[in-house]
Amino acid sequence: MATLTGIKDYQYGLEKIFPEADDFLPLLGTDYVELYVGNAKQAAHFYKTAFGFQSLAYAGLETGVRDRTSYVVRQGKIRLVLTTPLSSDSPIAEHIRKHGDGVKVIALWVDDARAAFQETTRRGAKPWFDPMVETDEHGQTVRAGIHTYGDTVHVFVERKDYQGAFLPGFVPWHSEYNPEPVGLEYIDHMVGNVDWNQMNVWAKFYHEVMGFANLISFDDKDISTEYSALMSKVMTNGNGRIKFPINEPAEGKKKSQIEEYIQFYEGAGCQHIAVATKDILHTVSEMRKRGVEFLHVPGTYYDTVMDRVGEIDEDVRRLKELGIMVDRDDEGYLLQIFTKPVEDRPTMFFEIIQRKGAMSFGKGNFKALFESIEDEQRRRGTL
Ligand code: FE2
Repeated sequence: MATLTGIKDYQYGLEKIFPEADDFLPLLGTDYVELYVGNAKQAAHFYKTAFGFQSLAYAGLETGVRDRTSYVVRQGKIRLVLTTPLSSDSPIAEHIRKHGDGVKVIALWVDDARAAFQETTRRGAKPWFDPMVETDEHGQTVRAGIHTYGDTVHVFVERKDYQGAFLPGFVPWHSEYNPEPVGLEYIDHMVGNVDWNQMNVWAKFYHEVMGFANLISFDDKDISTEYSALMSKVMTNGNGRIKFPINEPAEGKKKSQIEEYIQFYEGAGCQHIAVATKDILHTVSEMRKRGVEFLHVPGTYYDTVMDRVGEIDEDVRRLKELGIMVDRDDEGYLLQIFTKPVEDRPTMFFEIIQRKGAMSFGKGNFKALFESIEDEQRRRGTL
């Protein structure tokens, strides 16, 4: 059974709202997400055009970086870094050869990166890189990295003494091509897919090493269709700004979407980035116009959804046109939609979410959603 704890006083403040969490870091928010990609120039163009991100910063040969090129794009509080290697012997190239394009770094904004590194490594985190001071004419940052599931890492970023565009070593990226934002505001949660029997291992990692609390758990009875099943534990930090659901496959008649991900990503990794908007109707209609492909929700979903969720502000016909799903919990309701994978391997995708009081994750939509993913899996020959 799903259990929801500590939700009542939920709000996006800095105060601790999950007493079970030991907020020793503490985390101020997601600082950036870095994707390793085969062609950062083209990926940046995609995220600007299709998702409405804005040009922010650049590092590469012209700025004295010899081994990689990175483009940083921003929308609301979300910063994506798109990084590509400049030679075949780079560890970045190795990452892409194995996983395809995907999330490498989930960077977390902290007041004290050295302390965050010390506290987490003392509790058992495997270091990725030791605290490192970087400086330029705009000030200094301190960063340090630890490993998490698969080849994914967390980087702690301390930037209170920095006023530059992004990080030392990056220059502002002024582009003449600036498509309008689509209303994406912040990262609501980021989901990790891990292998069989690994969910509890990584939930324990986030609890013991990062001081997170278990906000909610879903077992295979909550999340199953005729063919496939999965289990999930949502881990949150003390102020609720960072939420990491961890999924693992569960026994079903056929291959679950989590197994398909792990097969194609060749290991554990970030399954989706959920980004919040204040106006999902606008955001999704813009993204559709710009070529983003979303999972298809069967038309019959809308025949019964209002019986389940009751009164909402939006016109259900508009939701149906755009394929947006609705769910309700004790606090309110939420609207959500999922893109198809944004790479050719069926791996990472995005969720667009608008919360109207609800602080849960759309459990009432799981069945329709997974059946829709299974349609895609069937077309890929992986179900
Ligand atoms: Fe999600």
